[in-house]
Amino acid sequence: MPISTSAVSGHTVCVTGAGGFIASWLVKLLLQKGYTVRGTVRNADDQKNAHLKELEGAKERLSLFSADLLDFDSLKAAITGCDGVFHTASPVTDDPEKVEQAIIGTKNVMAAAAEAKVRRVVFTSSIGTVYMNPNRSPDAVVDESCWSDLEFCKNTKNWYCYAKTIAEQTAWEVAKEQGVDLVVVNPMLVLGPLLQAGVNASVVHIMKYLTGSAKTYVNAVQGYVDVKDVAKAHVLVYETPSASGRYICVESMLHRGELVEILTKFFPEYPIPTKCSDEVNPKKKPYKYTVEKLKSLGMEFTPIKQCIYETVKSLQEKGHLPLPSQFQH
Ligand SMILES: NC(=O)c1ccc[n+]([C@@H]2O[C@H](COP(=O)([O-])OP(=O)(O)OC[C@H]3O[C@@H](n4cnc5c(N)ncnc54)[C@H](OP(=O)(O)O)[C@@H]3O)[C@@H](O)[C@H]2O)c1
Repeated sequence: MPISTSAVSGHTVCVTGAGGFIASWLVKLLLQKGYTVRGTVRNADDQKNAHLKELEGAKERLSLFSADLLDFDSLKAAITGCDGVFHTASPVTDDPEKVEQAIIGTKNVMAAAAEAKVRRVVFTSSIGTVYMNPNRSPDAVVDESCWSDLEFCKNTKNWYCYAKTIAEQTAWEVAKEQGVDLVVVNPMLVLGPLLQAGVNASVVHIMKYLTGSAKTYVNAVQGYVDVKDVAKAHVLVYETPSASGRYICVESMLHRGELVEILTKFFPEYPIPTKCSDEVNPKKKPYKYTVEKLKSLGMEFTPIKQCIYETVKSLQEKGHLPLPSQFQH
C-alpha cells in the first residue's frame, strides 16, 4: 500500500538538482503531499532557483542546500537525516567532458545515502540506459531487462546515454554492496510546462520546430512523457513498498512527422517544417516497448497531445517563444 498523506508529515526527503525541469515538479508534488524537502542546487542563492521558494509549502518545508555532484561532503550534508533520496541531478548533454559528473555524482549520492541509512533511493535514469542496442531484433519488446550497449553508445558518440548507463550501473552496484533500497525510473523524452525560468534540453526538442531554426524534420521516432507524470512516477515508486528494480516511463511514441503534425494543428501560425530531411529511406517505425510494470502500480499518463500543447503554451508564457502575432515570417 502506498504511504498515506498523513504518514508523510515529518517525513524528510532529499531531491538532488532540485532546480531542474523534472526535479522542480517533483519538489512541488512532494511539498503538496506534505513531505519536508531538502533540495540540492549548485548555489542556493542563485536567482535561477527562486521559483522553488515560491512553491506552495516551500516556506515551511523546503530548504535548499548548495551541493555539487563532485563534492561528496556537500551531498552528505543534505542527505544525512533524510528518510529518502530522489537523485535527479545530472548533466543532460552529449558533452564527453560531463560524463564523469554523471557517474561520480551518482556514486557520491549513493554512498551518502548508504551512510545516512535512508529508507529508499529513487534514481532518475533514462530510456537511454535501456534501448541503445543495435543487436536487438526488430521484433523484441524493450522492457526493464534491456540494457544499452556501451560500445555502441561510445561509437555513436552518444555520451549522454553512455554516462547515464554507467551511472545507473554504478547505482545498482553501490546499492548491492551497501544494502541500499534502490528503485529506478527510466523516462523517455520529457515534455510539459516549465516551472524553472530557463529552457532545459528536452524542451528544445519541440521548440526548434516553432522558431524556424529547424527547416526539416528527421526520419526518427521518439517516446514522450509529461513532466508531471514523471514526478508522479517517482513518488509512486518511492511510496509503494513492493516497488523494485527499474520502471520504463512513457506515454506514447511518435514519428517526428506525427509530432510536427500535432504542432501544426495546435499552432498553425508558426513556421513548422513540413518536409522530412530523409526522402530516400522508408519511414522509421517505432520499436516495441512495454510500460506495464509502471502501470501495474496504478500509474496513469497524460495524453501526449495535451502535454505538447501545454509545453508550447508554457514556452509562450515564459517568453521563450514569441506569440504567433509577434512572429516575423
Ligand atoms: N528531460 C528528459 O527528457 C529526461 C529523460 C530521461 C531522463 N532524464 C533525467 O532526468 C534528470 C533531470 O533532467 P531534466 O530534464 O530535469 O534536466 P535539467 O533541467 O537540466 O536538470 C538537471 C539538473 O542537474 C543539475 N546538475 C547537473 N550537473 C550538476 C553538478 N555537477 N552538480 C550539481 N548539480 C548538477 C543541474 O543544475 P544546473 O542547472 O546548475 O546545471 C539541473 O538542476 C536527469 O538525471 C536526466 O538524465 C531527463
